[in-house]
Amino acid sequence: MEHRARFALEVVDACITEIGAGRVGIRLSPVTPSNDISDSNPQAVFGYLVEELNKRGIAFIHFVEGATGGARDVPGFDFAWARKTFKGAYIANNGYDRAMAIQAVESGHADAVAFGRLFIANPDLVQRLKKNAPLNVPNPKTFYTPGPVGYIDYPALGNAA
Ligand SMILES: Cc1cc2nc3c(=O)[nH]c(=O)nc-3n(C[C@H](O)[C@H](O)[C@H](O)COP(=O)(O)O)c2cc1C
Repeated sequence: MEHRARFALEVVDACITEIGAGRVGIRLSPVTPSNDISDSNPQAVFGYLVEELNKRGIAFIHFVEGATGGARDVPGFDFAWARKTFKGAYIANNGYDRAMAIQAVESGHADAVAFGRLFIANPDLVQRLKKNAPLNVPNPKTFYTPGPVGYIDYPALGNAA
């Protein structure tokens, strides 16, 4: 399985050489089927990669848990194992809301949670999460579209209609 992780490690090693392991992080999506990606044995390939990344002492791994922007319960990779194995920061992503994120950090599943769609829809997401304020709902029709619509026109808190 090692050869399938080799290219990722070559890039990581080049980055480490340039800026030091403490400034390097990587995002892994072991089981996502996005863009027709598939792997016959994600645990072996990504498990090896997680172990190698741990040896290198990089700052963080950002894990897309499940199908990017879709189901979280995709089999094939043990994210809890990755959390235990990798001693750097574990950043969790995919389908998290505020309550799930708090639970993930408080339970020790993750050191931090990354938000995608909620950030697109909420220019002030951090403040809203801190206050437990209502969130704008992302509009999937304007994802991946050119131009500013759907990227810079969601209202900030206080300006919401
Ligand atoms: C408009 C849009 C563009 C995205 N572009 C990328 C991308 O270029 N590369 C990538 O790995 N993920 C991309 N993603 C996926 C997000 O980074 C994230 O993994 C996904 O939205 C799940 O997180 P969420 O549930 O917090 O939104 C994109 C998502 C959206 C909605």
